[in-house]
Amino acid sequence: MSSRLETIKNQFELYLDAITNALPDSRLKDAMRYSLLAGGKRVRPMLLFAALDAYELNMETGFPMAAAIEMIHTYSLIHDDMPEMDNDDLRRGRPTCHRVYGEDIALLAGDGLQAFAFEQLKNIGDPKKAVDLCVLLAQMAGPSGMCYGQDLDLAADGASSLEDIERIETYKTGCLIALPLCSAAILADRPQDLAKWKEIGKEIGIQFQIVDDLLEKTSNSAIMGKSLSDERNEKATALTFYTLEEGQAKVKAYEASILEKLEALCLADEELKQLINQLALRTH
Ligand code: IPE
Ligand code: IPE
Ligand code: MG
Ligand code: MG
Repeated sequence: MSSRLETIKNQFELYLDAITNALPDSRLKDAMRYSLLAGGKRVRPMLLFAALDAYELNMETGFPMAAAIEMIHTYSLIHDDMPEMDNDDLRRGRPTCHRVYGEDIALLAGDGLQAFAFEQLKNIGDPKKAVDLCVLLAQMAGPSGMCYGQDLDLAADGASSLEDIERIETYKTGCLIALPLCSAAILADRPQDLAKWKEIGKEIGIQFQIVDDLLEKTSNSAIMGKSLSDERNEKATALTFYTLEEGQAKVKAYEASILEKLEALCLADEELKQLINQLALRTH
């Protein structure tokens, strides 16, 4: 990671700590902070910062929206790990939220993070942009976005087709990856770029998920910091349909396609290109 992105990531960690620390003391606050501040990779915030940089905007201007996105993402992980969904014990290198705080508080921690995400938009200076970001956040997270993908994922059985898998991944993962990129376009007053960012986000999302599937086969739970439960849950993944080598080739092909689409936006995108390359090569 570039030193500029590394610095901004560290500042963002302090920002997340400060805004959640100001909440009234409760088990709910502790559980929210337990999962949010557990050292996730912060991929979605970094995509927002790098895209803002591509628009030659100050990366810090993205903090409120990046916090909102990371809260929605963290809530989705808390609920995803619960017994009613994937039933997992480890996340971000720690026991899952419900294992530590119980299912009742874990459920509330997800609810709290979701509502608190929307509250962050009060810190977007421009009211028109705040409204546009609010709608975008709801669309990408809700019943035509991530939640829809989670429903498709739960409904799928091990015999799904590759098209079905890509459809699931587009929604459950792609929407929250497209979200920071589209957010940058709104913050930069460039609504004409939204369609292109949606396409790019979808491809990064599917690629991200293929990398996850490859790592599930080649890495281990300790390195990944999470339970690897696809097999136990009889989940079909992209690798049900192609080999590891074909999966690696797919990751490269997506990267080429993503960079080509990015080129069309004609931005100062060095940080973003570097980040996209690192995502393809990630090891956890
Ligand atoms: C995990 O996302 C869920 C998937 C979509 C694969 P991340 O791999 O970004 O998880 P954290 O935020 O680093 O924990
Ligand atoms: C998680 O997908 C996606 C969301 C939480 C929206 P998975 O269930 O496949 O990811 P992991 O393996 O638990 O991170
Ligand atoms: Mg799941
Ligand atoms: Mg899961």
